[in-house]
Amino acid sequence: MTWEELESAARACHACPLGDTRTNLVFGTGNREADLMFVGEAPGAKEDEQGIPFVGAAGKLLDRYLEAVDISRDDVYIANIIKCRPPNNRDPLPAEEACCMPFLREQVKLIRPKMIVCLGRIAAMKLIKPDFKITSEHGQFFEKGDFLISAVYHPALLLRDPRKKEDMLIDMKAIKAKLDELS
Ligand code: URA
Repeated sequence: MTWEELESAARACHACPLGDTRTNLVFGTGNREADLMFVGEAPGAKEDEQGIPFVGAAGKLLDRYLEAVDISRDDVYIANIIKCRPPNNRDPLPAEEACCMPFLREQVKLIRPKMIVCLGRIAAMKLIKPDFKITSEHGQFFEKGDFLISAVYHPALLLRDPRKKEDMLIDMKAIKAKLDELS
């Protein structure tokens, strides 16, 4: 499947009810040849408005961490498990995740990243293991097929609980070091 085919299939998707309530589909953005891919949970209000992932307050905080460890946002690809905004930012439902996962799988196939970093618990439970514990397992690297996968705290959580910011910086530095090692 080509990027064009994938993107137009996603834009036409009404497999779950979120397809009817979205303002914009949030397909994903960034470097399609990235070594590093970030996967969040689902679009929020700002993302739904603009059709781009991580452009709201959480996204701005993510940008600051990327800058702090000298990773350019232009060099990474950013997507979400769910491409359409769940009403009132509720957690995605399993049925919605099931409808949307094939798009993410195709994105990973096309990009072939060396590393995927899950932003938050929901993405980690979907992509690493169902019982992933973000508090004790953030920052660990897992081998999965052709790539390494890790998870960090969701930036929206860091906005609510700034005490976790120190751990986030440690994890982001480890991600950058591992990425340098891989390339
Ligand atoms: N939170 C997410 O998980 N994804 C976004 O795109 C924005 C906020």
